Amino acid sequence: MATIRRLNRPASLPWEKQIMRFESRIEKFADGKELAKAAAHRFAAIIRAALAERGQAAVALAGGSTPTDTYREIAAGSSENPLAWDHVHIFWGDERCVPPDHSDSNYRMAREALLQRVPLPVANVHRIHGEAGPQLAADSYERKLRGFFSERKANFDLVFLGLGDDGHTASLFPSTAVVKLAAQGRLDRWAAASYVERLAAWRITLTPAVINNAAEIIFLVAGRGKAEVLKRVLHGPYNPEELPAQLIQPRCGPLIWMVDEAAARFLA
Ligand code: 6PG
Repeated sequence: MATIRRLNRPASLPWEKQIMRFESRIEKFADGKELAKAAAHRFAAIIRAALAERGQAAVALAGGSTPTDTYREIAAGSSENPLAWDHVHIFWGDERCVPPDHSDSNYRMAREALLQRVPLPVANVHRIHGEAGPQLAADSYERKLRGFFSERKANFDLVFLGLGDDGHTASLFPSTAVVKLAAQGRLDRWAAASYVERLAAWRITLTPAVINNAAEIIFLVAGRGKAEVLKRVLHGPYNPEELPAQLIQPRCGPLIWMVDEAAARFLA
């Protein structure tokens, strides 16, 4: 059973941040499986609403391992109650600079857990070509995004995000040049290449400018290992250069944290 709590903006936020108001809520689930089922159900509801309203839906998927169960549940749910996949467009929140069949590829993870299990047209799969190298891949993805959203503000119907134990989300990592620019409000790009010292690797990421325009943003956070960072992000001081997940402040829709009991154990 999910318990829903509305988040108060951390009182420690600098005054200029207090003026940014958006709905945030935490939905807590007994375990990762229950979280995945609920997230899959929410995905289907958002897609159906977007298709009913505009005849098209656009989603950005999270990478990493947590979303795998959710993607499998989406595929399972769609086999019972089919979605109109031919009008759904799938993007990614970030990607590693590896080929699409590499074990580290976020595209490969989503293809195995979801894409190859549903009748999604190949033309509706908008992966990040990380194998092209960081800047080429970022520039190409930026063109793809601007072409798809026809230069108006990119507004995904849903962005799924994960949370790293260092406070990163997508590939917005602490103390990187991209995050520093974003924290200063000086990052206008929609997609950026970011070198991550800790990983000694380049990543491609959606930027907060795009993520925060989404109609709905859902963080999927599970496991004991995320409890400390989740508490810091939600209730600690506003410090986005060190906790880039705090840069996620939706302009129009709700920010939903779907978390399991283990990850939520330090939350009041
Ligand atoms: C990536 C992800 C990243 C991920 C977090 C959490 O490419 O690694 O996009 O932001 O969501 O690192 O990863 P886990 O779900 O594996 O803990």
